[in-house]
Amino acid sequence: MNLLRTSILCLGMTCMSAAAGPEDAAASASAPTAPGGGQAVVVYFSCTGTTQALAERIAAATGATTWRIEPTEPYTAADLDYEVANSRANREQQDPASRPAITGNCPAIAASSIIFLGYPIWWGEAPRVISTFLAQHNLAGKTIVPFCTSGSSPLGASDTHLHPLAPRAIWKPGKRFSGRESDRALRQWLDSLRLAPVPKR
Ligand SMILES: Cc1cc2nc3c(=O)[nH]c(=O)nc-3n(C[C@H](O)[C@H](O)[C@H](O)COP(=O)(O)O)c2cc1C
Repeated sequence: MNLLRTSILCLGMTCMSAAAGPEDAAASASAPTAPGGGQAVVVYFSCTGTTQALAERIAAATGATTWRIEPTEPYTAADLDYEVANSRANREQQDPASRPAITGNCPAIAASSIIFLGYPIWWGEAPRVISTFLAQHNLAGKTIVPFCTSGSSPLGASDTHLHPLAPRAIWKPGKRFSGRESDRALRQWLDSLRLAPVPKR
């Protein structure tokens, strides 16, 4: 079954439950994936859980697997304090060449043709660990769908600024979420992507 059909099926099942919300969708992410699962993967970075919850909803809706980007040196609360000029996160964001080490490579990339790439907005941009991920994977010919969460900032150019790090990928326009979107809104976004059917393995 291709990704598109899986998407429609899973979202249809989600919509059958009037009470279904983000928590329900996240819970179903642990259910066995539909046939074809694994040919799309949701790669994400999340420090406080907002992007993670969205990533799990996207995975549940599409049958994709998930892979969390883990910094080799985890971020502490102090690291994330954007009110401290010299905090780790602030220093990294001020340096476009910063590439914080991440743990391992995503094993699902090779078999996946569609990669949802999720991140929180940090000072209007993707955290630099996203740059690390892009730089250390071969993404040529793969479709990348960026999505992000933020307190209030828009997507801005946070997606297009990533393109040079995977220049041979097929980049879809990014999308910013608050994390409080309905399943219907999520489905509309997925449908709007018009993702090409994923061939059977
Ligand atoms: C270092 C840092 C910088 C941030 N910069 C912004 C920003 O520029 N605009 C914004 O709306 N939110 C900003 N935020 C808030 C996060 O984007 C927001 O809380 C996001 O949903 C967190 O995702 P997570 O829970 O997956 O880590 C920032 C947070 C941190 C830690």
